[in-house]
Amino acid sequence: MTDVVREEAHAKLNLTLEVLGKRPDGYHDIASVVTTIDLHDVVVVGPASEITVRCDDAALGGEANLAYKAATALARVAGQVKGAAVTIEKRIPVAAGLGGGSADAAATLRALNRLWQLGLSIEELARIGSEVGSDVPFLVRSGTALVSGRGERIEPVPAPDMGRIVLLCPGIPLSGKTGALFGMLGPDSFTRKLAARIRTKGDVPAELMFNVFSSVAPRAFARWDEHRAAFAALGGREILLAGAGPSMFAKAPSKEMATAWQLLLGSRPGCRAFAVTTWDAAGGPKV
Ligand code: C5P
Repeated sequence: MTDVVREEAHAKLNLTLEVLGKRPDGYHDIASVVTTIDLHDVVVVGPASEITVRCDDAALGGEANLAYKAATALARVAGQVKGAAVTIEKRIPVAAGLGGGSADAAATLRALNRLWQLGLSIEELARIGSEVGSDVPFLVRSGTALVSGRGERIEPVPAPDMGRIVLLCPGIPLSGKTGALFGMLGPDSFTRKLAARIRTKGDVPAELMFNVFSSVAPRAFARWDEHRAAFAALGGREILLAGAGPSMFAKAPSKEMATAWQLLLGSRPGCRAFAVTTWDAAGGPKV
């Protein structure tokens, strides 16, 4: 009998984020090269009579948490009344564009699949995850992939070698953030270039990185440009918005420089900063 199951919930970075168009269901078709990074939350599940979610950041516990929605969706598919105590150790900044809430939901699906001994495949878990949130199917699998559709079509590609990446996460509140950013876009269309490059050469030239939301981020997030300028003043080049923001990231020229940037940017009021690498379940952190 399994007592508790622990799963890491890795944050994601969109290396490109392109929006192809609006769909009849109100969502958008996207094309995005996404990779998980070593920064992660920890999700622990254990047996209980009903589903509960607790988080060390108390404001995030309870039924509003995506992990709760994931657990109830999985219990429904399992076709039985199942309980579980889900505990989340939060390290990924919240509503930052790093997919933290979705990563917790994805890790909850993997963990409960083991706790409840359901024997579902990753593909089945990803399908259930798609009901919980658009980023969940990719995060169930993790690694690096070209993601399309609403987020449910996943073509894995090898983990790229990107060295150290520095992440700046200003805490800028915006309610209904992701939906708001999609709503601010005009008509756009884009390419599949980066996935092909990773497949053939394994690297990610900064000029191929792209985020459709970069053009609206300075309007959406108060003083976002100031944070970006501070990052650039330290030597950050090709600074890219993370997902629907407001976090931003750039490749660092060396491990030492990554640590220096992280310390300096992390001391900005209201900001957190991280030095990260891409991460792959099979190989662990790259670098
Ligand atoms: O799927 P999720 O709940 O994370 O999406 C949050 C919001 O972002 C949706 O309500 C929708 O407005 C927008 N969205 C979208 N197209 C996507 C993903 C999200 O329009 N592919």
